[in-house]
Amino acid sequence: MRKNIVAGNWKMNMDYEQGISLFSEIVNMVKDEVIGNQEVVVCSPFIHLAAISKLSSGTGNVSIGAQTINEHESGAYTGEISASQVKSTGAAYVILGHSERRAYFNETDELLAEKVNAALKHDLKPIFCIGETKDERESGSYFDIIKTQLSKGLFHLDAEAFKNVVLAYEPVWAIGTGLTATPEQAQEVHAFIRKTLAEQYGQEIADNTSILYGGSANPSNAQSLFSQPDIDGGLIGGASLKSRDFLQIINVFNA
Ligand code: PGA
Repeated sequence: MRKNIVAGNWKMNMDYEQGISLFSEIVNMVKDEVIGNQEVVVCSPFIHLAAISKLSSGTGNVSIGAQTINEHESGAYTGEISASQVKSTGAAYVILGHSERRAYFNETDELLAEKVNAALKHDLKPIFCIGETKDERESGSYFDIIKTQLSKGLFHLDAEAFKNVVLAYEPVWAIGTGLTATPEQAQEVHAFIRKTLAEQYGQEIADNTSILYGGSANPSNAQSLFSQPDIDGGLIGGASLKSRDFLQIINVFNA
């Protein structure tokens, strides 16, 4: 059975101390909740990874992730961070293909395929983001865009490797804008993604893949989004920076 996952994406927020105290609050709050078939992930800036990973160890219910990695193994890439370095902090996940990375750092589908390989080689699970821009939605080309992002970024993987991938559908027009996709709009795309996965890898793998929604998800809309049959949780930006909001979103699965 596929997992329900609520993942926080802190982006470039929180200085060192702020991040440690936010994470401590999250761990303390989540500790008392029934998690069941659910996983909570916090994707922090690199500076927090090792420390928060220590804070979470022993509690076993909050996993840690990075927000990108470099595609190379190691070497003269000043300022970059490799998959093995992220893994050595205790992190289990890495967000790849976030629309901000695609738009501001020129991350192409081809580059992302290399980053996916680097992550999997070092046992980091990619949370792979796909989604259309406002123009692409309005022109009706969004299914094609999503299919291309899936096939160029991921479909070189064999079925065994693909089992480690989590997907996040994040319509670019909904990220940080307060414009959430309606549950019906999101469900339509999630069902399309699952159908595309079934064509590539078979129905069983498609049914076992967690597909998260991201884009202005918050405590007020999480319930209606997560109750859709193909929405298995969320990738949460702004609302993951307040422990109470994040907890309320997590608790949608415990109601
Ligand atoms: P948001 O960001 O929840 O602030 O819209 C989501 C994301 O970019 O992952």
